Amino acid sequence: MQKTVQELVTVSNGDRDLDLETVPERFIREAVKEGQQQGAEGGEVPLVDVPVIDLSLLPLSHPPASPEADAELQSFHRALTSWGCIQVINHGMTDAFLDQVREVAKVFFSLPSEEKRRYLRADNGIEGYGTDMVLSDHQVLDWNDRLSLFVYPEDCRKLEYWPQIPETFREILHEYTLKLRDTVDAVFKAMATSLNLYSNLFLQAFRGKVTLIARFNYYPQCPRPELVYGLKPHADGSAIIVVLPDREVGGLQFLKDDNWVKIPIIPHALLINVGDQVEIMSNGVFKSPMHRVIPSSDHGRISLAMFCAPDAEEEIGPVSELVDESRPRLYKNVKDYPKIYFHHYQQGKRPIDAVKL
Ligand code: SIN
Ligand code: FE2
Repeated sequence: MQKTVQELVTVSNGDRDLDLETVPERFIREAVKEGQQQGAEGGEVPLVDVPVIDLSLLPLSHPPASPEADAELQSFHRALTSWGCIQVINHGMTDAFLDQVREVAKVFFSLPSEEKRRYLRADNGIEGYGTDMVLSDHQVLDWNDRLSLFVYPEDCRKLEYWPQIPETFREILHEYTLKLRDTVDAVFKAMATSLNLYSNLFLQAFRGKVTLIARFNYYPQCPRPELVYGLKPHADGSAIIVVLPDREVGGLQFLKDDNWVKIPIIPHALLINVGDQVEIMSNGVFKSPMHRVIPSSDHGRISLAMFCAPDAEEEIGPVSELVDESRPRLYKNVKDYPKIYFHHYQQGKRPIDAVKL
């Protein structure tokens, strides 16, 4: 495999993370190359608060037990119909545990290249350590290295891709996965409840087969962040995505009312956003937001994104309870949406448009 971004920017025998004066051509944004970058693309992006939701207050069935729970459910519903994302607190994981998850990721990415390359992604594979997927010669590459792992159900795990250094890596990722299973269940139940529907509706539509894929992201320090993307603007293809952000370094931005905005870091919160599959199942009620990552010129940034989706074998579509005369069906039923997603993403198109009616 080609060099990772980290290998490109690291001095071969030093531990400094930055040696390049500028960035290689193949990372330069299309708009920069064409001389079109302007406005919010090139300029200051404002910091805007994303709704903070207390998961311990969210009712998991109807009716909410208290006015407080009802108010939280209303905020949750408003956030997912407008922003498509929330910061979740009181999710049942301690701050210290979240830091342990961050720490194993940090130790992994700071290992020597030869050690990390023991877990290299196979050509055409999804799992393992590598760079942005190179799908064509003309593609602009993201300033991002990653380690992707299937983590749930447990019998999908390919342990040959799971780092053995640090030695706590596997155990901590296992524990984090089990805790996140509960978090995503609660979020799916609250989604249905907030729509006045039977709380297991979304989970049932998956026929109990929820899959979780972990993606540890590393965005090395970048000498010219305004010329590249850590991750290009995209909406996610899974059902919901839970992001554990870097404790100190920001960079994740969302498109809100056609403007890019930065969101604050809340170290003990999990950031959860809707993916295309929930937008489809909710018949467009919940929004799968566009987002992007800009690397930092001063520090490397680490995040862990957990993609939660139904089994690829399951057909999904708008749930019948959300289709009526006032809200006609907006999307087709689809099987293996990730395949459709990557096919269109690769062509620079917005994948969900391919399944609109
Ligand atoms: C993403 O998965 O789209 C971004 C996650 C992040 O690095 O904040
Ligand atoms: Fe994403």
